[in-house]
Amino acid sequence: MNLADPLSDLHPRVGDAPFTRLAGAFYRRVRSDDLLGPMYPQHDWGGAEHRLRGFLIQRCGGPDTYSRERGHPRLRMRHAPFAIDRAARDRWIQLMAPCLAEAGFTEADAGLLQAFFEQVATHMVNR
Ligand code: HEM
Repeated sequence: MNLADPLSDLHPRVGDAPFTRLAGAFYRRVRSDDLLGPMYPQHDWGGAEHRLRGFLIQRCGGPDTYSRERGHPRLRMRHAPFAIDRAARDRWIQLMAPCLAEAGFTEADAGLLQAFFEQVATHMVNR
């Protein structure tokens, strides 16, 4: 484990299942959300779920399937086409928060992920 990056041993410890549940729980909420729902590809919800799940597994020390399929994450660049203001950022975080417990992460691991999401989400604000 890389002590400077506490997320790096999360996937080795918990495996795929909580990440699969997390992405599923999150997109179930996003789909019906008035602010975020319309931003996502309406005919590719399964693809969006697959990409987020793969990214998170890779970021948390799991296999690099995401980058083999998509290349370097470059998340800020990939989010540039979407108008992400503070309200959209806060909504993303608000929808994700209950999913962490629902997915079965321990409170400690949920806290690590929550901090990571807040940092990345702030970085995605582009309006
Ligand atoms: C700040 C609010 C955010 C908004 C409004 C937002 C919105 C979106 C949208 C509309 C997409 C396209 C869906 C797709 O086709 O995959 C997307 C993709 C993605 N988002 Fe976000 N996002 C936000 C924050 C985040 C955060 C915090 C993360 C990770 C910690 C993240 C990770 C991703 C990933 C991995 C993809 C797929 C990139 C790809 O390979 O194309 N997003 N996001």
